[in-house]
Amino acid sequence: MSALFEPCTLREVTIPNRIWMPPMCQYSAAPEGPLAGVPHDWHFAHYAARATGGAGLVVVEATAVSPEGRISPYDLGIWNDIQAEAFRRITGFLSAQGTVPAIQLAHAGRKASTERPWKGGGPLGPLEHGWQPLAPSPVAFDDAHPVPDELTVDGIRRIVERFAAAARRALDAGFEIAEIHGAHGYLIHEFLSPHSNHRTDAYGGPYENRTRFALEVVDAVRAVWPDDKPLFFRISATDWLAEGGWTPDDTVRFARELHAQGIDLLYVSTGGNASGARIPVGPGYQVPFAARVKAETPMPVAAVGLITEAGQAAKIIANGEADAVLLGRELLRNPSWPRLAARELGGAVRVPEQYHRSV
Ligand code: FNR
Repeated sequence: MSALFEPCTLREVTIPNRIWMPPMCQYSAAPEGPLAGVPHDWHFAHYAARATGGAGLVVVEATAVSPEGRISPYDLGIWNDIQAEAFRRITGFLSAQGTVPAIQLAHAGRKASTERPWKGGGPLGPLEHGWQPLAPSPVAFDDAHPVPDELTVDGIRRIVERFAAAARRALDAGFEIAEIHGAHGYLIHEFLSPHSNHRTDAYGGPYENRTRFALEVVDAVRAVWPDDKPLFFRISATDWLAEGGWTPDDTVRFARELHAQGIDLLYVSTGGNASGARIPVGPGYQVPFAARVKAETPMPVAAVGLITEAGQAAKIIANGEADAVLLGRELLRNPSWPRLAARELGGAVRVPEQYHRSV
């Protein structure tokens, strides 16, 4: 049987297989008022379908630790108790199906305050539920985005506290795993990369300073996240820039440090921080970056990005390139992909009793 269908234990949490759903924003929450950032029927149906389809782990989409940390005004949030309480319906259902519920904690930095992608995705002003974004340096993502406000050291400290408060609420909401979003050109990645971080204080300049904010967030979250529960970090392994960006060598070095700070799994994306980057997108194009971290560090890794075929996924695990695979758009197309992959490869995932006649 393919190792895809073997359980994966991290700390005291056992994930029943290695086919996982990565976070994917639904941009479907209310933009303001008492229900701002609160998950509702759409989110429940969306996550429930992937649990009944057999995914071993479902990572709830980028969920903002503060209102100005949302990518769009329609993002989920976990900065108040109403939001945390509403997640219980999702975590309870996922857990009852044997799927481990995880949540990605996020701050969008200079890429905040944008329209939903299907409405163009452009920056939004204050009259359209938008706000002024914050970032390490007053450098716009591209010509279409506004110049963000530079965070003060006090502002940085407050965001670190927001991540910790969000993790505490995520725990109350029933999540088994928290994930810190350090990828795709959002706030933490903006600090890591010299392309977006031009600071001259303790948070900018050399590698040790650019990684400081990320490590402070990791420490603050790890301090409130129980020892028996795993903590993940998502990273963009490269900015895809010839010079002046975050590099795969930086990622390997940082993976060792994150492992020492109590991160239990790194999942490895690329890009998102440099508007001019040229990215050679193709099947499994990010897998080599995950494989390199796995080969050169003690950190467990998950691979993501254009993994769509059962045989391809099984090979990534069999070759030791990653400990798990994450399928994004393929699970949007087909929530039952894990069940069909099990049938194709002769493995098994949990099938709800109600569906026993379809096994
Ligand atoms: C994403 N992605 C993403 N990544 C992330 O870290 N947090 C997020 O909230 C989102 N949101 C999101 C929304 C939608 C609609 C898509 C399609 C993607 C990226 C996602 O997790 C994944 O890395 C990519 O989709 C690549 O994997 P696939 O789709 O090729 O399997």
